Parts: sequence; structure tokens; C-alpha cells
Amino acid sequence: MPLFRPVLSLFYLLPIIFLPSFCSAADPYASYEFRVSYITASPLGVPQKVIAVNGNFPGPPINVTTNYNVAVNVWNDLDENLLMTWSGIQMRRNSWHDGVLGTNCPIPPKWNWTYQFQVKDQIGSFFYFPSINFQKASGGFGPFVINNRDIIPIPFAQPEGDIFIMIGDWFTRDHAALRADLSAGKELGIPDGVLINGKGPYQYNATLVPAGIQYETIRVHPGKTYRLRVHNVGISTSLNFRIQSHNMLLAETEGHYTVMQNYTDFDIHVGQSYSFLVTMDQNASTDYYVVASARFVNESLWQKVTGVAILQYSNSKGPATGPLPDPPNDFYDKERSMNQARSVRQNVSASGARPNPQGSFHYGQINVTQTYLLKSEPLVTINKTTRATFNGISFIPPKTPIRLADQHKVKGAYKLDFPDRPLNRTPRADISIIDAAYKGFIEVIFQNNDSIIHSVHLDGYSFFVVGMGYGDWSEDLRGSYNKWDAITRSTSQVYPGAWTAVLISLDNVGVWNLRAENLDRWYLGQETYLRIVNPEENGKTEMAAPSNVLYCGALQSLQKEQHHGNANSIFKGHSKLFITLLMALLNVAFLHS
Ligand SMILES: *[C@@H]1O[C@H](CO)[C@@H](O)[C@H](O)[C@H]1NC(C)=O
Ligand SMILES: *[C@@H]1O[C@H](CO)[C@@H](O)[C@H](O)[C@H]1NC(C)=O
Ligand SMILES: *[C@@H]1O[C@H](CO)[C@@H](O)[C@H](O)[C@H]1NC(C)=O
Ligand SMILES: *[C@@H]1O[C@H](CO)[C@@H](O)[C@H](O)[C@H]1NC(C)=O
Ligand SMILES: *[C@@H]1O[C@H](CO)[C@@H](O)[C@H](O)[C@H]1NC(C)=O
Ligand SMILES: *[C@@H]1O[C@H](CO)[C@@H](O)[C@H](O)[C@H]1NC(C)=O
Ligand SMILES: *[C@@H]1O[C@H](CO)[C@@H](O)[C@H](O)[C@H]1NC(C)=O
Ligand SMILES: *[C@@H]1O[C@H](CO)[C@@H](O)[C@H](O)[C@H]1NC(C)=O
Ligand SMILES: *[C@@H]1O[C@H](CO)[C@@H](O)[C@H](O)[C@H]1NC(C)=O
Ligand SMILES: *[C@@H]1O[C@H](CO)[C@@H](O)[C@H](O)[C@H]1NC(C)=O
Repeated sequence: MPLFRPVLSLFYLLPIIFLPSFCSAADPYASYEFRVSYITASPLGVPQKVIAVNGNFPGPPINVTTNYNVAVNVWNDLDENLLMTWSGIQMRRNSWHDGVLGTNCPIPPKWNWTYQFQVKDQIGSFFYFPSINFQKASGGFGPFVINNRDIIPIPFAQPEGDIFIMIGDWFTRDHAALRADLSAGKELGIPDGVLINGKGPYQYNATLVPAGIQYETIRVHPGKTYRLRVHNVGISTSLNFRIQSHNMLLAETEGHYTVMQNYTDFDIHVGQSYSFLVTMDQNASTDYYVVASARFVNESLWQKVTGVAILQYSNSKGPATGPLPDPPNDFYDKERSMNQARSVRQNVSASGARPNPQGSFHYGQINVTQTYLLKSEPLVTINKTTRATFNGISFIPPKTPIRLADQHKVKGAYKLDFPDRPLNRTPRADISIIDAAYKGFIEVIFQNNDSIIHSVHLDGYSFFVVGMGYGDWSEDLRGSYNKWDAITRSTSQVYPGAWTAVLISLDNVGVWNLRAENLDRWYLGQETYLRIVNPEENGKTEMAAPSNVLYCGALQSLQKEQHHGNANSIFKGHSKLFITLLMALLNVAFLHS
């Protein structure tokens, strides 16, 4: 019996394997067709417009192995522009397919566009989501797994299987209504709930949860160990994740193996991904609750903002009953959550994507070439509109993507003047980015002066999270940095009134988005880009613009109209794909026989 897995249709479950034209021909190739469209769903009992991928919410998993060449042909069946981005996937030398407005022109409605990238030297748990127009608040996200190659051992026994768990805060208003509120300067308010895999809470309490809501059931076998890949795909709420009566053995975060430790509950901030190994070691006298509840909020006001799924053993003797497992009781204890974050450390003797220990890169001994202090403050008003800032600058996405503007010598597309520390001046809105030195080793300190927990995320890279603390950062705090086994990841929390310090080795040429992952803050301008260019442009450190590159802004006139296929030809496309797939499978079977 297979374990839990979203219902999938065959053509995207199995990647197609053939030789690509666009990159390393020696490595396998996996291709996916993603149709992004609206469906009506009622995750919290109220019918609403939801964004589905191939008719599914959440979308289907992308499941590939290190060094695969991946192609995802995205069809925009929405009524507005779309870009898909790949959270945590490093896009080596290839910011052309990163799917954010600074690097890509948006895909217009009724058009399709193929993302092509190699998942070079990466392993672990990631996800994809639509990056513009606040669409992530209506869905469009799904898991993205990169498996180890067979020659690389994983630092634990092979689990029985993978279980994907996508948790996130949710509103019954759709993304268009939410962004209208933000543009009008309104707060979004308390979310209407938390979804687990696109479903509302199990009715654990008839006062709090109405009857008739479809909830997620995770089916498992007693005695087995599963790898739970948990992602916070929500808008802005930090969630505490826990499973009744079960320990969660932390094993990996955003592509790096951790020192394995048991937790009874774990704080997962917006945009973060974790793997936990969970052994089904209970007696199945009942089913068990799986809970994701809002963190650091007034419980009496936020009671409904709790996701509840069911963990069901194959020998279960009955439904889960009684109260949910307790959340951490630390509303006034600022240290517990931060200490838990500090306890996430890299297993420096485990192999990463390559057959060498993860810790063989002695980051603690490298001299920092530049320091950036990025301060976020509470929302400000600029030109009568509500905006969010880093260092007093609220980012305006460029009309022409940055590297495309470089290549076509478009003047004034952006400014390279992002300040490396907060300046005491009036906040402004600008297309201001960071001119970061190729091969530099930089220190970035995020200082959160806002009143909410922030998640900060960098595309194209993993960073070493070397320290966090309350109060204002100062140079003498460098002495407290973890210079040995800091975790490497792409998304870190920054507690309100606190700082988080990260170190980044700038070895990936391109233009990379640095942002507040909190969707509202990001939407209101709390982002910038790192522009990393090899001064000796030799055609090796950065890929050329892809042949299907879209043009917009100052280069709009270069864009050819796209002739849209009708539904019929698309269907034909799928059957063709299906045949290719069968042939590929036969090939694989043949090669392995
Ligand atoms: C992902 O792919 C791996 C390797 O091909 C396979 O073993 C695994 O079962 C797949 N997982 C899912 C959830 O499809
Ligand atoms: C759109 O899809 C078609 C059919 O699969 C494909 O040939 C074409 O390359 C895609 N267009 C772009 C711009 O990627
Ligand atoms: C670290 O990885 C090694 C090598 O795979 C493994 O044997 C060890 O158990 C791991 N240690 C911890 C503390 O997780
Ligand atoms: C259900 O929740 C309400 C509101 O918090 C609470 O008063 C009540 O005791 C709960 N009922 C049960 C059976 O736990
Ligand atoms: C984690 O907890 C399980 C029981 O749920 C136990 O068997 C295991 O030894 C623990 N592992 C560690 C590293 O503490
Ligand atoms: C099953 O485990 C629960 C909780 O640990 C315990 O209260 C209960 O008595 C056990 N039931 C059986 C039949 O062993
Ligand atoms: C939580 O909200 C309730 C209801 O508005 C209020 O009475 C209570 O004082 C709040 N608690 C805290 C700790 O702010
Ligand atoms: C780092 O800087 C120190 C002092 O400037 C210097 O002595 C040392 O050699 C440098 N280390 C490396 C690895 O470059
Ligand atoms: C306000 O808007 C005007 C006109 O769009 C622009 O010229 C000006 O620079 C803006 N001011 C700020 C502070 O961004
Ligand atoms: C923000 O900065 C002000 C001025 O330094 C300080 O008074 C306030 O406590 C800070 N708030 C947070 C949440 O950091």
C-alpha cells in the first residue's frame, strides 16, 4: 500500500527522461507541464476562488534527483500575469528562470512559458509558488524534492516514504481582494484559518470548527518511519507544528542535513522548509492530531487560526478525541523560540549533494569582504501610500528585468545604490539594488524593528545563519557567531526587536531577489536584489539569456505575439507527452535490465 500522496494524474507524476539541448547532456532531464488555473474550493467551508496547478490544490510535487535538468512548461490560465518561482532552488548561473519580476518578464494570461534549469549539487526539500500579484495567498504552490544520487549516502536509514505537508495561514478572501486591501492601506487582519495540504481543520471542537469541512488524513503503518517534508507556504503567520504523542526527529532544512534531534513541537516561519523523521511508535488506540497553530499571538483571538489534520495508523482503533496537544506556553518568554532556532545545526560530517562532508567548507575562517545592515521598520507612508522598507527604501520592481536591461544596454532601468546601512533620511520608493562583488564573502545583518516576526529569503543561494539575538546588533556581537556548524539555508526568521546575521559566499552570478517572505511586506516593497556579475564576462560563469526569453518594459517591442494553442491541441500535447513518457520508461527499464 502506498503511503499518503496527493491525488495525481500520471502525466506529471513521472518525469520524462530524454536528452536536453539546453544544458549538460550527460545528466537526466525531467519535464513537467503545469496548467495554472482557478478552481472553486471551500477549504474553510466557504466557496472561494483558489489557484490550482493541473486542477490540484496544492499543486503536484516535482520530484527529481541532484543534477537533473528540469523543464516546467507553465500555462497561465489565470486572468492576470503570472510568474512561478522555485523557493530554495539555487538556479546555478541562471537567474533567467528564477521567476521574480527583477529577472523575468511576467507570463501574460493565456500564454505559456517553459522554465529550464539544472538542480546542480543540491538535495532536499523545497517548494514552488507564484511570486507576483499576491497569488500565493490563493494557492498555486506545491512541493519540490531533490533526491540524493545513489552514490551519496543519506545520514539516516531510508524512510518508508515521503509525506508532504504544506501548512499556511489562509483567508476566505482571494488574493485580488487581499491585495486591494493592502493597496488601500488596510491591514489584512487575523487570517480565517490555517490549511494543511489545502484542507481545513478536523472538527476537534464543534464550537470552533463547523461541520462538513474536509480535512487531511495522513495514513501510515505502525512501526514505520516516514520523512515528513513540512513547508510553511502561508502569507505571514509563523506556525507551531506538532504531532500528538509523537517525536519529530529533525533531519534536514532547505537542502542541508541537520544534527538530528527530537522535538515535540517546532516553529516554522513563512517560507521555511523542514524534514522530520517520524516513527509510528504509538499503540494506535486512537488517531492522532497533526497541528499547525499560529505563534506569538493572542490565543483567545486567534483560536480559529489552527490547522488540524489526522495521522491515522493502519491499525487505528478509533478517531482522535479530546483537546489538541498543547502549544508552547511562552507568550512572555522570548527565548524559547530563538533557542530552538539556534539548536538547528548542520551535521558537518554528513555528505551534502556531493560525496564530501557538508562542513568541509570552513566558512568560519573566511574574511568578510563587506557588511550590510538591513533594517526593517514598521510600515511607512510614501506618496500617500502604505509601504514597507529595508533601510528606508521601498522597492519598485523594474519594468525591464535587470540582466535583460544590462544586455540590451537599457539606461536607467535600475539604480545600483542600495545603502549598506540604514540612513537617517525620509523613506522613499525606488528601483534600488545592491551592487555585490562576485566572489565576495559578505555578512548581512537583518535588524527587525517591525512589530511582527519576519522571514527573510535570498534566491540563488544558501546562507550560513551564524547568529541571532534581541536588541540592536553591534560589531562586538560577532564574537557570539557560530563559526563551526551554523545551518545553511535560504530562509531565516528575524524576531521583532531582534537581529539575525548571515554569511553568504557570492559564487553564483546573476541577479538575486532578497526579500521579506511575509507576503504583505514583500508586496508593499520590502525587497531588493543582489546584482552579482563576473567582471571578466567569459560566458562560463553565467548562462546566456534563454531562447524563449520574454521581453517587456523598454524592450517590449522585441516580444513576438504568442499564438495560443486551443484546448484541443493542448490535449494532443499531453497524449504526445504520455507516449514519450512510456517510451522513456521502457528505455529506463531496458537500461536497467
Ligand atoms: C521520488 O522519486 C524517487 C526516486 O525516483 C522515488 O523513489 C520516490 O518514490 C518518489 N517520491 C514520490 C513522492 O513520488
Ligand atoms: C509553449 O508550449 C509549447 C508546447 O509545449 C512549447 O513548444 C513552447 O516552447 C512553449 N513556449 C515557451 C515560450 O516556452
Ligand atoms: C551526521 O551524519 C553522519 C554521517 O552520515 C551520521 O552517521 C550521524 O549520525 C549524523 N549525526 C547526527 C548527530 O545527526
Ligand atoms: C471548544 O472551544 C471552546 C472555545 O474555546 C471552549 O470553550 C470549549 O471548552 C471547547 N470544547 C471542548 C469540548 O473542548
Ligand atoms: C527520538 O525519539 C525516538 C522516540 O520517538 C527515539 O527512539 C530516538 O532514539 C530519539 N532520537 C534521538 C536522536 O534523540
Ligand atoms: C496506548 O497509549 C496511550 C498513551 O500512551 C495509553 O494511555 C493507553 O493506555 C495505551 N493503550 C493500550 C491499549 O495500550
Ligand atoms: C487577548 O485578547 C482578549 C480579547 O480581546 C483580551 O481580553 C486579552 O487581554 C488579550 N490578551 C493579551 C495577552 O493581550
Ligand atoms: C584574514 O584577514 C587577516 C587580517 O587582515 C589576515 O591576517 C588573514 O590572512 C586573512 N585570512 C584569509 C583566509 O585571507
Ligand atoms: C512621489 O511620486 C512622484 C510622482 O510619481 C515622484 O516623482 C516622487 O519621486 C515620489 N516621491 C517619493 C518620496 O518616492
Ligand atoms: C524600534 O526602534 C525604536 C527606536 O530605536 C525603539 O524604541 C523600539 O523599541 C524598536 N522596536 C522594535 C520592535 O525593535
